[in-house]
Amino acid sequence: MKSSNLTVQQKEEFFQFLRFRSISTQAKHDADTRACAAWLRDKLESIGLESFLKETGGHPVVFARTPRDPGKRTVLIYGHYDVQPPDPLDEWKSDPFEPEERDGKVYARGASDNKGQIYAHIAGVADTLARDGQLPVNLLFLIEGEEEIGSPSLPGFLRENQELLHCDVVVLSDTGMVAHGVPTLAYALRGVAALECVVRGPSHDLHSGIYGGAVMNPISAAARLIASLHGEDGKVQIEHFYDRVQPLADWEREESLAAPCGEAEILAQTGAPSLFGEQGYNVLERIGARPTAEVNGIGGGYQGEGTKTVLPKEAFFKLTFRLVSNQSSQEILELAEKHLREHCPPGVTLEIRRGHSGEPYFVDPHNSDVEAACRALKDTFGKKVCRMREGGSIPILLEFREILGVNCLLLALASPDCNAHSPNESFPLENLEKGILLNQFVLFELAQTVYRGDVPWGLLNRNVGAC
Ligand code: BES
Ligand code: ZN
Repeated sequence: MKSSNLTVQQKEEFFQFLRFRSISTQAKHDADTRACAAWLRDKLESIGLESFLKETGGHPVVFARTPRDPGKRTVLIYGHYDVQPPDPLDEWKSDPFEPEERDGKVYARGASDNKGQIYAHIAGVADTLARDGQLPVNLLFLIEGEEEIGSPSLPGFLRENQELLHCDVVVLSDTGMVAHGVPTLAYALRGVAALECVVRGPSHDLHSGIYGGAVMNPISAAARLIASLHGEDGKVQIEHFYDRVQPLADWEREESLAAPCGEAEILAQTGAPSLFGEQGYNVLERIGARPTAEVNGIGGGYQGEGTKTVLPKEAFFKLTFRLVSNQSSQEILELAEKHLREHCPPGVTLEIRRGHSGEPYFVDPHNSDVEAACRALKDTFGKKVCRMREGGSIPILLEFREILGVNCLLLALASPDCNAHSPNESFPLENLEKGILLNQFVLFELAQTVYRGDVPWGLLNRNVGAC
């Protein structure tokens, strides 16, 4: 494995950043989350930016800026310093909050989602400032602490600080590379909409011999509801679910088939015995370009050792839907609720609670800023850029467009085997080095770019400017 060109200081700082238990969903870690934000603020100040901790009512936002030169374009770099819980802990080979380097990768919770990328951007800016004394653009950093819980405070923060955040374009690196070493630009992200369902039957747990057969079992009812969501062909069976989904352009279908990631790679990454998905679409399309319904959790009844003949009084399940451009989370939740109520068997009641949601994101892959980002990716990695639709979600992106009026450029830096949200998350030091370079190339390219506006929707089916 190639040894890295990072300095001892860079590595040590990256490790410090990773040691904070900035788990946004757990209140017991609020002080750690705030300490992480304060560390970032101090780091940004130490490289010469004016830096602040901004209160939001939730976890604070870290904001930093260069002086504004009216002759330069303004770029906002967005990221998040919060991380997912590390559970299940016993599956980690090393402590999730004591970073360890093995085979050229740093293992820690948050290493690739999203601390490695943020540190790369900061180190890139530090290198440019140390070398040139200035940046080619006016730069803003906006690093939030609530992305992993759906960014509840950020829309309000954007609305209240529009002048402070005024910019030409947003850059982020919180998506995945299609294959190791392959520069990847995501031009679409799926949205997400969550539901929790509780199925209630008898008033108390019953003896399944004394009453079984006469009373609807809430777990069976939950299983029937879950099974009603999909057909044998992998399609979601909710009426009108696909009504707003737009067909893929020919060039998108061709590029997704030619991408260096297909069924074999996804089989290897997932460890599943075989793949399953919506008929008529290849594996990358199923992940990035088609909407889905997933069960994320299910429970009820006896979970302990051995047998217990119980007919439980209730069961629950948790669902999320991933949405693609033109679908709306509220509309999909309404359709899903209607479907579940209509399919709920008699003998139980169904309570449905809505969870957080976020809209899908799409940026015209032919606009001049996206092309500038593609040139930066190509120069950094020395290879043709793969443009793709991503399966994951970053709900705040649509709000950057709707509130600040700007597009987001999604530069991938996480490797396919990064284990984001899973045990043994890692970030290759090579990607950290490349990220530092990428930051410099992208700011340089965006500084030279005159934004020509988006290509009208009707023209999107042609493929111009492939990089
Ligand atoms: N970095 C991810 C999003 C992501 C991952 C995009 C991989 C593309 C490829 C982000 O931190 C994340 O996990 N988002 C959540 C959003 C949810 C908590 C609202 C997601 O996608 O589940
Ligand atoms: Zn995440």
